Amino acid sequence: MPDSFANKLLQWYDCHGRHDLPWHHNRNAYRVWVSEIMLQQTQVTTVIPYFEAFMKRFPDVHALAEAPVDDVLSHWSGLGYYARARNLQKAAQTVVREFDGEFPQTQEKLESLTGIGRSTAAAILAQAFGIRAAILDGNVKRVLARYHAIPGWPGQTAVLNQLWQRAEEHTPKQRVRGYTQGIMDLGAMVCTRSRPACESCPLQEGCRAYAQGETSLYPGSKPK
Ligand code: ADE
Ligand code: SF4
Repeated sequence: MPDSFANKLLQWYDCHGRHDLPWHHNRNAYRVWVSEIMLQQTQVTTVIPYFEAFMKRFPDVHALAEAPVDDVLSHWSGLGYYARARNLQKAAQTVVREFDGEFPQTQEKLESLTGIGRSTAAAILAQAFGIRAAILDGNVKRVLARYHAIPGWPGQTAVLNQLWQRAEEHTPKQRVRGYTQGIMDLGAMVCTRSRPACESCPLQEGCRAYAQGETSLYPGSKPK
């Protein structure tokens, strides 16, 4: 399938994607997990220095589990959404207690950890372990809603289900790490919220929103 969605995306990723983020080095489940939680409401450039400082102070899941909570919160100060930091430490304690300090390698067990939802669990499986698992964060929702011209607000279950279906469909068996990073990068760098750079998009051929000249309709916004 030389023309498939995943292949076009991977080719683009090889030339234009991000290959040198701090969590791409010494890649393991702990580092991928912390980066994903930090990135949930915060941009990559803001996250980088926080991630570096956090890893210096809490280099592994044991260090995080054992730390005084105030220490964890002070390393979070500036990122906001402090519940994320509390949940992070709670989940670290569960990993130590119930999983002997090793992150589980199944979707279900990862989702049992506080603060880890379907997409974050999949990001850990894909990025840390190279296991085929579909992610669907805000960037990916935008790309898929446009590519397939899926109408409606992704906060609605029916819309979300269609997006998950497409996300599962496109996720390749091979090179799932590159694919996962690539689709997030495409959403952040090309298929941006306003004024997407469709002229330089590897998915332009086949993109239904582009063909309709209606990229701004997708994804739909929250009904009032
Ligand atoms: N947002 C969530 N995870 C990300 C990642 N690994 N790279 C860039 N943006 C992201
Ligand atoms: Fe997004 Fe445009 Fe690419 Fe379609 S062609 S996926 S709207 S950047």
